[in-house]
Amino acid sequence: MDAIGKLYSSVVVVTMNYNNTINGITVAWITRVSINPKLIAISIGKTRFSHELLNKSKYFGVCVLKKNQKNIAELFGTRSGKNYNKFENVDFIFSERNLPIIKNSLAYIECEIIDSFDAGDHTLFVGKVLEEKLFDDDSPLLFGDHRILEGK
Ligand SMILES: Cc1cc2nc3c(=O)[nH]c(=O)nc-3n(C[C@H](O)[C@H](O)[C@H](O)COP(=O)(O)O)c2cc1C
Repeated sequence: MDAIGKLYSSVVVVTMNYNNTINGITVAWITRVSINPKLIAISIGKTRFSHELLNKSKYFGVCVLKKNQKNIAELFGTRSGKNYNKFENVDFIFSERNLPIIKNSLAYIECEIIDSFDAGDHTLFVGKVLEEKLFDDDSPLLFGDHRILEGK
């Protein structure tokens, strides 16, 4: 237990599509940063394949996971998409901007990348919210104390 572990957040899968290469990455370091315009920020490790794709992309999608979707968080959060299609056995549809939306997600938010900031071994990508969809009234999967919290 430590102090920084007490910063709890929702667990999401950030999705992207660069020149028809799709990928998704589990992200817990996500936050709202502005009301008007409506902005959110995601923090992505510089060694991730997603970092390479997001650097070249115009948009990203955010699939907010439900409290019983730990398996999806692990699928997108334990392997790199560099040589593997994480969507192979996942039900998804494409948004109008061709970003993957994971079926059965709790919510979906689509963003235009308007800025990025160097942040140590991560980069903060700031997204302007273009679309929001709430699919269900369930609770989100949470990350806290450095781990996924099931069923809270
Ligand atoms: C619960 C959970 C939360 C995570 N949060 C982040 C995060 O906020 N930022 C990040 O860069 N990686 C995060 N990761 C690690 C990436 O999801 C993981 O390294 C992934 O395999 C990278 O995939 P890629 O190489 O296809 O981009 C998290 C992993 C898990 C399981």
